[in-house]
Amino acid sequence: MSNDRDEAFAPTSAASTPGQEWWRTAVIYQIYPRSFADASGDGIGDLPGITARLDSLAGLGVDAIWLSPFYTSPQKDAGYDVADYCDVDPLFGTLADFDEMTARAHELDIRVIVDLVPNHSSDQHRWFQEALAAPAGSVERDRYIFRDGAGADGELPPNNWQSVFGGPAWTRVPDGQWYLHLFDSSQPDFNWDNRIVRDEFLDILRFWLDREVDGFRVDVAHGMIKADGLPDYTPPAEGGSMGGGTATLEPGISDEANDDPPYWAQEGVHEIYREWRKLLDGYAGERILAAEAWVDPLPKVAKWVRPDEMHQAFNFAYLETPWEASALRSVIDNSLDAFSAVGAPSTWVLSNHDVVRHASRLALTAENLQGHGVGPKTPGLPDPVVGLRRARAATALMLALPGSAYIYQGEELGLPEAINLPDEVRQDPTWFRTNGERYGRDGCRVPLPWEASAPAYGFSETGASWLPQPTDWATYARDLQNGVPDSTLELYRSALHQRREHGLGLGEVEWLDGFGPEVVALRTGGVTVVANTGADPIALPEGAVLLASSPLEGNDLPGDTTVWLS
Ligand code: GLC
Repeated sequence: MSNDRDEAFAPTSAASTPGQEWWRTAVIYQIYPRSFADASGDGIGDLPGITARLDSLAGLGVDAIWLSPFYTSPQKDAGYDVADYCDVDPLFGTLADFDEMTARAHELDIRVIVDLVPNHSSDQHRWFQEALAAPAGSVERDRYIFRDGAGADGELPPNNWQSVFGGPAWTRVPDGQWYLHLFDSSQPDFNWDNRIVRDEFLDILRFWLDREVDGFRVDVAHGMIKADGLPDYTPPAEGGSMGGGTATLEPGISDEANDDPPYWAQEGVHEIYREWRKLLDGYAGERILAAEAWVDPLPKVAKWVRPDEMHQAFNFAYLETPWEASALRSVIDNSLDAFSAVGAPSTWVLSNHDVVRHASRLALTAENLQGHGVGPKTPGLPDPVVGLRRARAATALMLALPGSAYIYQGEELGLPEAINLPDEVRQDPTWFRTNGERYGRDGCRVPLPWEASAPAYGFSETGASWLPQPTDWATYARDLQNGVPDSTLELYRSALHQRREHGLGLGEVEWLDGFGPEVVALRTGGVTVVANTGADPIALPEGAVLLASSPLEGNDLPGDTTVWLS
């Protein structure tokens, strides 16, 4: 099933010709380990569960997997609070399980990318515990960002910064000092001005590179350096959930750079990545760095992927673009321009573990909900049929574009957001830190349905599941979609296989005129791609149909449908 793969993509292959490296066109599948497959039966997914299910990803045709964190962690932010960067949390298995998973992935020609969380650690990290035990001004405290408070007795936070998850970004410790945490209070920010921190992370990179990982997805890659003096900052009202100055309503479309907050996108971060790039370049096998940098507009994101920095940066401007033809054309143009200006491929992404799944999001009437989530009381809840139809069309458009594409586990099944999770099962710190005002991200993190009639739909043999799976998810189960021609799973499989066959992912985009304002029409790699974002059918252009995101109607391309033609 898995062996119709191109030699050039084999992880062990010799270095590729510049411009043809694997990561320029790769389709990278994001695994959220807690929710992928649970071999131990405790209701939380794990590494042996992943290993056991890797064949299905090879069959789908992905080039690489990216795993969200599986490191030792108290799980206050689902593992993005790391207590030991060089070990596996017992919840997920052991280092031996990791090695086994990596070896199996490589056997299947799937590369392995791990998550690296350098902006902050867990408060249970040995260094933070040492910092708490040490006095103000100590070497131990200098690995984090401790400050005296404002006010007569230091009783006020050192500045007015707010946490991305809501509430103040500072917490006071018993001796009166405060520490900075841009996220949860259990996630203290490292002091990247301290050489000891930099050296430690070089060692962490080496540790995983020596274990044969193919790259790192770098968490909050825009956040590690803070402006001198930590000046006050008030985010604009329309700022996105990353704390202002980023993720505006039309990211990537405006030419104006936003004012960056003093904690995001500071020039100094680039020096860190240059040092990391040198380290990676010393390893054989084209290992990569991919930046999670929520900055805006796109030419600024492209700074992360200049030739001596990272290889890829997530294109969140694309993710946030509504299902609207003119906005899509602009963001595609802007992305290709911005990334090619620095010699990097564009990336494309529609879903991940932080945003509302696109099978729901694209039918939402409210905008800019990333990180805020949707729940039963959200106004303008999506129609699931419209959402899935648009999601399939949006994916078919994305997978034709030149560059590298990211798929989030479950989207190949057409999974919607789990909107009706009961309040008492929610676990995202955003939910707690905003007293339930923001639902947060649990709705996109519900464990996957593998088999319609197995306990927990095959996620876990015991039927346990750390977030409850909606009762109607049997219909999305992989076994019911496998081999069924019009299923979402077969649409993804066909798109990935044809993408490789036609060499999509490389090459350029040529816009095709003569279609209405609600149509995105382009030619790339010898394939004509037409996405009808409107409600009314349009006449299909000439050509043999290679792929259609929904059934065609005679010679018409119906609304909310994308087609590939030869
Ligand atoms: C990133 C992760 C998100 C996490 C945050 C803090 O944005 O994707 O899940 O909560 O960083 O580490």
